[in-house]
Amino acid sequence: MFELETPTLDDLEAIGELDARNFGASPLKPDHLEALSHWLDMDRSLVVRDAGRAVAFAASVPFELTLPGLNTVRMSGVTWVSVAPSHTRQGILGQLMHGLDQLAIDHGESVLGLQASTGGIYERFGYGPATRCRVIELDRRAARIANSYNVDRRQVTLYSKAERIERSAEQLDRFDRYRRATIGELSINAAYLKIGDVRSPDEQIYAEHPDGYAIYTISPRWNEGHPAHEISIDSMVWNTPQAHLDLWAAIMASDLVGPIRSRIAIGPDDPLPYFLADPRTLRTVELNDFLWLKVNDPKTAFAARTYRGDASLTIMVEGSDEVLRISPQGVETVSGPADMLADRSALGPLLLGSTSATVLGTGRRVHGSRQTLATADLLFGHGDPVHSQTYI
Ligand SMILES: CC(C)(COP(=O)(O)OP(=O)(O)OC[C@H]1O[C@@H](n2cnc3c(N)ncnc32)[C@H](O)[C@@H]1OP(=O)(O)O)[C@@H](O)C(=O)NCCC(=O)NCCS
Repeated sequence: MFELETPTLDDLEAIGELDARNFGASPLKPDHLEALSHWLDMDRSLVVRDAGRAVAFAASVPFELTLPGLNTVRMSGVTWVSVAPSHTRQGILGQLMHGLDQLAIDHGESVLGLQASTGGIYERFGYGPATRCRVIELDRRAARIANSYNVDRRQVTLYSKAERIERSAEQLDRFDRYRRATIGELSINAAYLKIGDVRSPDEQIYAEHPDGYAIYTISPRWNEGHPAHEISIDSMVWNTPQAHLDLWAAIMASDLVGPIRSRIAIGPDDPLPYFLADPRTLRTVELNDFLWLKVNDPKTAFAARTYRGDASLTIMVEGSDEVLRISPQGVETVSGPADMLADRSALGPLLLGSTSATVLGTGRRVHGSRQTLATADLLFGHGDPVHSQTYI
């Protein structure tokens, strides 16, 4: 067993080096370290030292997570998890995960969330994929918004990265409206934006609409006189369907551009294909897990969301003896056998209503009769898209 300690800001440079090495990145520049020092709270971080040197680190950052019913719940965002190759496979990650659970309890955060570097690590600690991201490629030269839609590209103003930084209050305001209306999305703040500011390329473009914004970069590909520049969209935030349409129309009007790509900004249920004259000009290249959730305190977390219909269901989490009755009237602890048994890793998708209980049942993550799972589908389901495009 190693000792988990609380680091100080003096440790940040060494921690930056440890993480850069582990994630295959360049050592952090001073402005990046400065931005991190305002975002990471060392009192909510854990370090392991050996012979005085930092050999493992993990941090938790407070977020709000939007749930069905558009209520929010407090979430511990788990980030910067790394163990030096000299010290891996000796149980340090397990210790860090335990320490992070405790930090979440101390801060009244019933849910923990993270993005996983690889898919095989976190289920054993109770995390499960709860949102998905859709890697897309739009063939800009073939794609066109159908004539039947009214588009007003002039609502979109293009700014440089430097101008965006000056307009961070406008950006945050638009993001805040969007995340409060989007199940699965997280809150961000000025300190979070600052990290993006130091990491993003100077040529980044900020396209602002009164009801949203997009952030993207154009990489030139002149191809010896056959230009097909590439656009990469980092964020697409819209608060009205018109903003969605206007932003896409403005980006698609970029001459000399061939493919438009996005890794996380476009949700699995984004309505763009419906606006395109030929929906096949948009290809889904991959569908990946994005936000993994661990529901540490199911009673608090499930009480924060709303439910459909008028049925109720009792549920017990594997490894716990608490039985919860969940209904549109609320969540209460009851005694007696539960209708449904759930792995902890299945609680995140149930909480967001992003995967049906029937599918989770087929995948052996929840257990109950067919009728129980159908009741759970009615109760936990909703018709809203679930999406997060916020890296933790
Ligand atoms: C991933 C990482 C944090 C694991 O740390 P570690 O201290 O070696 O992990 P532990 O020894 O506590 O292992 C805990 C369990 O996870 C498993 N595990 C660890 N890393 C794994 C991986 N990359 N893939 C699958 N399983 C993994 C271990 O086998 C062990 O399983 P067991 O309990 O069944 O024996 C470390 O290898 C690392 O820093 N990697 C590079 C950076 C990274 O990917 N960080 C995660 C960011 S999301």
